[in-house]
Amino acid sequence: MSNTFSLKRRKGFEKPMQVDTNQICEIIEKHGYQSSALIGILQDIQERMNYLPRKALLHVSRSLDIPLTNIYEVATFYKAFSLEPKGRHTLQVCLGTACHVRGGARILSYLENLLEVKAGGTTKDLSFTLESVNCLGACALGPVMVIDRKYFGRIHIDKIEPILKKYRDK
Ligand code: FES
Repeated sequence: MSNTFSLKRRKGFEKPMQVDTNQICEIIEKHGYQSSALIGILQDIQERMNYLPRKALLHVSRSLDIPLTNIYEVATFYKAFSLEPKGRHTLQVCLGTACHVRGGARILSYLENLLEVKAGGTTKDLSFTLESVNCLGACALGPVMVIDRKYFGRIHIDKIEPILKKYRDK
């Protein structure tokens, strides 16, 4: 499939963020080295780095004297945490009934081809994480696509590429 929206046009692919242990120390210090603040610490790391790098979790484990397995239990329990690098933008496509009957699956399949990533995955240049969801509460606007909480209703395949271009370099 020819694809005019090539992510490879960007200068080189980005690597996941390097883990700066000083940043992790700052976060732990902000929470007073309290093991009871583990969730808050993980939230701050997730917010700053867009995911929970293993090196950061090891640092938290040693600093708070919490077994790494316990930290992973918490990190995998909450959907807000990710152990894989996430894209700078989250792109959601609704596959709920109302959107599905109006072509939601076709939109998702188009995006998977365009971005060269399956739903649930992140593009190699870390621009987008693509997700499928079941109803975004805007059924009358179906099919619905959402980027970083901005809704694009009655989305048509022809409109997608120009929209993504605006976000890709942000
Ligand atoms: S089914 Fe898509 S917004 Fe409700």
